[in-house]
Amino acid sequence: METIDLRSDGKKIGLINNGNNYFTFSSTAAFQPVTYSWENIRIELAKNHGHCFNGVSSVQKQILDNVTGCIQPGEFLAIMGASGAGKTTLLNCLTFRNAGKLKIHGERYLNGAEVNTDILARISGFVQQDDLFIPTLTVKEHLQFQALLRMDKHFSYEERMNRVDNVILELGLGKCANTVIGLPERDLKSISGGERKRLSFASEVLTNPSLIFCDEPTSGLDSFMAHNVVKILKNFAFSGKSVICTIHQPSSEVFSLFDRILLLAEGGRTAFFGPAGDALPFFSNLGIPCPPSYNPAEFYIHTLATEPSKEAESKERRNIICNAYEVSEASHRVFEIAEANKHRNKAIRKRNGRGGVKKSPYKASVFDQFRAVVWRSVISVVRESVILKFKSFQTIFVAVIIALLFQGQTLQYENISNIQSVLFIFVDILTFQNVFGVVSAISNELPIFLREHHNGMYRTDVYFLSKTLADLPVYIFFPFVFLSIPYYAIGLNPFTDRFFVSCGTVILVTNVATSFGYLISCAAGSTQIALDLTTPLVIPLLYIGGFFLRNGSVPVYLEWMRYLSWFMYGNEALSINQWAGVIFNDTACPNGICTGAQILENYDFNPEFFHRDIGGLCGLIVGFRFLPFLALLSKTY
Ligand SMILES: Nc1ncnc2c1ncn2[C@@H]1O[C@H](COP(=O)(O)OP(=O)(O)OP(=O)(O)O)[C@@H](O)[C@H]1O
Ligand SMILES: [Mg+2]
Repeated sequence: METIDLRSDGKKIGLINNGNNYFTFSSTAAFQPVTYSWENIRIELAKNHGHCFNGVSSVQKQILDNVTGCIQPGEFLAIMGASGAGKTTLLNCLTFRNAGKLKIHGERYLNGAEVNTDILARISGFVQQDDLFIPTLTVKEHLQFQALLRMDKHFSYEERMNRVDNVILELGLGKCANTVIGLPERDLKSISGGERKRLSFASEVLTNPSLIFCDEPTSGLDSFMAHNVVKILKNFAFSGKSVICTIHQPSSEVFSLFDRILLLAEGGRTAFFGPAGDALPFFSNLGIPCPPSYNPAEFYIHTLATEPSKEAESKERRNIICNAYEVSEASHRVFEIAEANKHRNKAIRKRNGRGGVKKSPYKASVFDQFRAVVWRSVISVVRESVILKFKSFQTIFVAVIIALLFQGQTLQYENISNIQSVLFIFVDILTFQNVFGVVSAISNELPIFLREHHNGMYRTDVYFLSKTLADLPVYIFFPFVFLSIPYYAIGLNPFTDRFFVSCGTVILVTNVATSFGYLISCAAGSTQIALDLTTPLVIPLLYIGGFFLRNGSVPVYLEWMRYLSWFMYGNEALSINQWAGVIFNDTACPNGICTGAQILENYDFNPEFFHRDIGGLCGLIVGFRFLPFLALLSKTY
């Protein structure tokens, strides 16, 4: 059953079936009606020829070819077409997202004003095809985070939390409100596909946008859930909002919910734009009738796609349809609406134009952004219990193995090389234990950061500082435990101050390794590339760290690399801390006496460099964090 009712006071109420029961979605909150039109949108993929400085570009591929359309308040528009026809590209163009190397021509107007990202950020929501969530948050926590950063400044905390509760109710998420979102790919307990999609809607409608974009709302859902999700969009439209979605192959039931359709043919030309019911007569008049009992959506898509081994014929048919549409009454009507929208009176334009736009694209103050992102980062660190448990096990297990293997290294000549080895092993293991974890965690989180940043939720530096702060306790606690377990069992320098200096040094080493992980993740384009780059980048710094290749043996032209090697700084600092001021008797030593100074000299370490080494580690922590910050900034502008 689907009921849509109009109340006597003029407010519309939609009823949505959430699977088991029906709930209401009301349009009580005020929003501004929106007409969005686009004219002659042409999108090309440019190809660069020549060299960096004298390159010329030519069109490599035409993705969209003079597409014109519009959406008015209370309408539900579906953009349909075969795979690769350009549906997502058009939606991205209308929302100013993911343009990459594409060249975009044409005009976009919203209530009489030329559209820009500021206007869109204020009045629209974009539900993208891939749902990106921090998997460790619950549904409610996710929405609370969104409400804190996306709702206008004038809302109080209580109002935001009330809005979250209402949206949870409106979108039928009550049953899973306190369930962790999870990640099916990682086998983390997760909410269902339909609930994920509804959560995406919920994130976007928190701010009560007038214009909603949605890319493939039904992908990955069964037909029942798909119908359910599209009905939610229909209800948004019914409440007066303007809703545009792309859709691949809707069922007849889903198709019947659309008010207007935009059919894109392969090659990006418009085959039809207009009321959904007018499309069948349009095709029939061209001598291409839809067979009885055929799903009209499937008919359009098949008619406009290329049939295997009938390429020329399919292209010819597409051209006939697109040419006919260009001169049709429907096409003229769209142009008229688009032109009228472009020239709407100045008063409206002023209301929607730059005059009313705040300077900052962010809704929350820097402090509030910082507080919210730290809160979320801490929750996700604490909730990643599997990772924390694994990290604890790994730390204790490896520390115990080292303690067993290297125990009882008393001060004797023959034990010196064992002690040097174990000091280097500390630096080595802490690096590899942490750098890979950071690379995969940060690379997985970057798409979420980029999307949220684009949604005007928080600044790049806020994200960076908050993450660093939330992660810091982990990268202090685990290296401390890792060193403490075997330290006295091995028989390293027993003075308390030396123990704590060793702990401090390995904590610094760990944090350089994590900073290096940040650098690789932010510079690489994907998790896989970042993981593949890690070993080849770390290994040379390891080899040059003063253990495998003595400091004095490094080729002059690679000398600079030593100064980037935390293995070198860490190894030397730990060795100086271990041996400085130590003297012991052993007949194997020269003249029967071994001094710490001699030992350090034998390994090419200079006792005066201790502070330089600690400074070097601190410098690398800051430098390796600052470069990825710049890399992120470049990705966001
Ligand atoms: N940034 C880009 N760089 C290169 N090619 C692109 C880019 N964006 C889109 N394309 C190309 O444009 C065409 C249309 O892609 P688009 O993703 O818009 O199709 P679609 O209709 O959404 O398909 P689907 O139904 O499979 O999602 C494709 O051939 C795609 O390869
Ligand atoms: Mg697509």
